[in-house]
Amino acid sequence: MDAIVSRDDFLKSLAEKSDGGKLRGNYAAADPLYVVAQDWAGYTREQHALWQKLYRRQANLAAGRACEEVIDSLRRLDAADAVPQFERISDVLFKATRWRLVAVPGLVPDQVFFEHLANRRFPVTVWLREPYEFDYIAEPDVFHDFFGHVPLLFNPIFADYLQEYGKGGLKALKLDGLKYLARLYWYTIEFGLIESPGGLRVYGAGILSSGGEIDYCLRSGKPHRIRFDLERVMRTLYKIDSYQDTYFVIDCFERLFDSTAPDFTQLYKRLITLDTLPADTLLAGDRLVASLAGRR
Ligand code: PHE
Ligand code: CO
Repeated sequence: MDAIVSRDDFLKSLAEKSDGGKLRGNYAAADPLYVVAQDWAGYTREQHALWQKLYRRQANLAAGRACEEVIDSLRRLDAADAVPQFERISDVLFKATRWRLVAVPGLVPDQVFFEHLANRRFPVTVWLREPYEFDYIAEPDVFHDFFGHVPLLFNPIFADYLQEYGKGGLKALKLDGLKYLARLYWYTIEFGLIESPGGLRVYGAGILSSGGEIDYCLRSGKPHRIRFDLERVMRTLYKIDSYQDTYFVIDCFERLFDSTAPDFTQLYKRLITLDTLPADTLLAGDRLVASLAGRR
């Protein structure tokens, strides 16, 4: 297994490991759509305390770095003190954008993941990292899924974008377009930056839940920050085990939605004919966005 482009690849890469690649969650209890009960009563006092520490650190870092839409939602979520009860949040969320949260044991297969998104259900992993994983974790846990992904589900346009992404995923499976669509997910939903009225900000979940990258992506002189361009994004490889070499910057969620709305069938055909770009590539046509370096 060389490149990991999708959830299926990740699950496969685990299975290929010498120890049989143990998944951390309890998949035996899952239904055909991989939904489980959250078993909120099963979280220990230590786990709630760890959540609180993770949440505090990250909420402090988010101020002035995350986009306003995320900050506003975090305020509404009231999830600072303990691992949240998905059902409580799900009810609030449904009233806002008709999305629901479902509990899952961990990563789920692509088809299942897309099926959930296409039906406005967001799968949230139930297990929480261990204290030694405070700063970094390779697989998504409840903190990443919740703190990173749930806030933007309250934004009507982003909520629609994610549903369309899910439908597009089901389509891409048939069109052999998954690796291209996975890059779009990576560079928007996980690692996207936005040029907001207040300046450059974070909206991607992978950055929002990261203690180090949330500042790095805005201020470091090392990575490229390039204006979002659909085809450019879909050609670009990404790093799964380090900070990103490149971030793509959108100017608003409306335009992201509009630029991804057209049927991708022809685009996938065209992409096969184009070179794949390493994560640190800079092309002559790339439009760069200034970092926040030096600003307070
Ligand atoms: N327009 C895409 C397609 O035709 C679907 C999509 C929408 C994908 C939004 C991603 C985001 O496949
Ligand atoms: Co994620």
